[in-house]
Amino acid sequence: KVVAVIMVGGPTKGTRFRPLSFNIPKPLFPLAGQPMVHHPISACKRIPNLAQIYLIGFYEEREFALFVSSISNELKVPVRYLKEEKPHGSAGGLYNFRDLIMEDSPSHIFLLNCDVCCSFPLPDMLEAHRRYGGMGTILVIKVPPESANQFGELVADPVTNELLHYTEKPETFVSDHINCGVYVFTPDVFAAIQGVSTQRKDRANLRRVSSFEALQLPNRSLPTDFVRLDQDILSPLAGKKQLYTYETMDFWEQIKTPGMSLRCSALYLAQFRFTSPHILATGDGIKSATITGDVYIHPSAKVHPTAKIGPNVSISANARIGAGVRLVNCIILDDVEIKENAVVIHAIVGWKSMIGRWSRVQAEGDYNAKLGVTILGESVSVEDEVVVINSIVLPNKTLNLSVQEEIIL
Ligand code: GDD
Repeated sequence: KVVAVIMVGGPTKGTRFRPLSFNIPKPLFPLAGQPMVHHPISACKRIPNLAQIYLIGFYEEREFALFVSSISNELKVPVRYLKEEKPHGSAGGLYNFRDLIMEDSPSHIFLLNCDVCCSFPLPDMLEAHRRYGGMGTILVIKVPPESANQFGELVADPVTNELLHYTEKPETFVSDHINCGVYVFTPDVFAAIQGVSTQRKDRANLRRVSSFEALQLPNRSLPTDFVRLDQDILSPLAGKKQLYTYETMDFWEQIKTPGMSLRCSALYLAQFRFTSPHILATGDGIKSATITGDVYIHPSAKVHPTAKIGPNVSISANARIGAGVRLVNCIILDDVEIKENAVVIHAIVGWKSMIGRWSRVQAEGDYNAKLGVTILGESVSVEDEVVVINSIVLPNKTLNLSVQEEIIL
């Protein structure tokens, strides 16, 4: 049997995702009309002999209760949310629930970061992992060398694929091959995590005994039960024939900012064209709006037949899109109203926001620039004929004047 674990973090993480993480946990923010964490979960369903999927985080249980029960029913696979009392780090969080995870006696455990967007080639990874015969296999990808330092950089043996060297977010360039945050392990990983935590305890005890050192150095070490997968497990085990790599040639992105969520929404919409085309809007029929490219429209949304929508647009529940509206490359969240002839380009429009007649909400569409995508928080009102360009607007603001390159607090 196989068990999958998705690390979802908690409210103190994901701060770069503001203002969109103010009223919803980041892992539940919709990409291509589905909560972020829906995508890795549906990928897990393709793993043979999958017994259970766990989401581990330090959000309140009730924030995930509805999602977990609806996705379990929808995908017919048991999904459970496990709450950590405090953050234990990406490996410590897994270790904290080892007894529960081992209840199904899995031969393999998948571990996935929730904030990555990729095609999750999990069955292929598992097959490669079995062939390599190590303790763990890491999904890796080649990225442009100038962006590699935001990630774990690694070197692998070109023939055996063994992980030879690993450095987390190094200051000087090591390699353009990076850690995608998707792993498969044998249960031996628990012993490796325990090893790190025991070592820490021993060191802490030593420090207590040696009073001289204690006077010299304030105790700057991490709590003994806080174990990071990257620095504490992958780095020391590289080159020891225990860890291997599997390279993906498909798409991969990390989702830390609202701008990147728009980019990832596009990637998942494009993937739906191959995996589940029925989810995408077609624009067929005389009563339908004009649709270009990949578009998702929630069945409860009302879109006027004279609206022009796409490419890369996703419209959530109960949104109302008026006559003559133009939407390009945007995410429209629940209960938004967009009035006649308004235009939204390269933007995310927050829950219950309102955009007035002939208004424009837009940006230049640079996903990596701070203001490259215009973001309206929850319940923002843009009055008629107002233009909002390259800006971030915090919740509950009313804009009656046009703004450009501004953060409206
Ligand atoms: N439950 C729980 N508890 N989850 C956690 C904790 C924790 O204490 N700490 C982090 N996470 C989750 C985050 O929500 C995220 O999904 C994942 O673990 C990794 O988060 P970080 O540890 O903050 O690392 P990162 O995202 O900056 O970088 C990691 O992922 C990159 C790929 O996206 C590293 O492993 C990099 O090497 C890697 O390139």
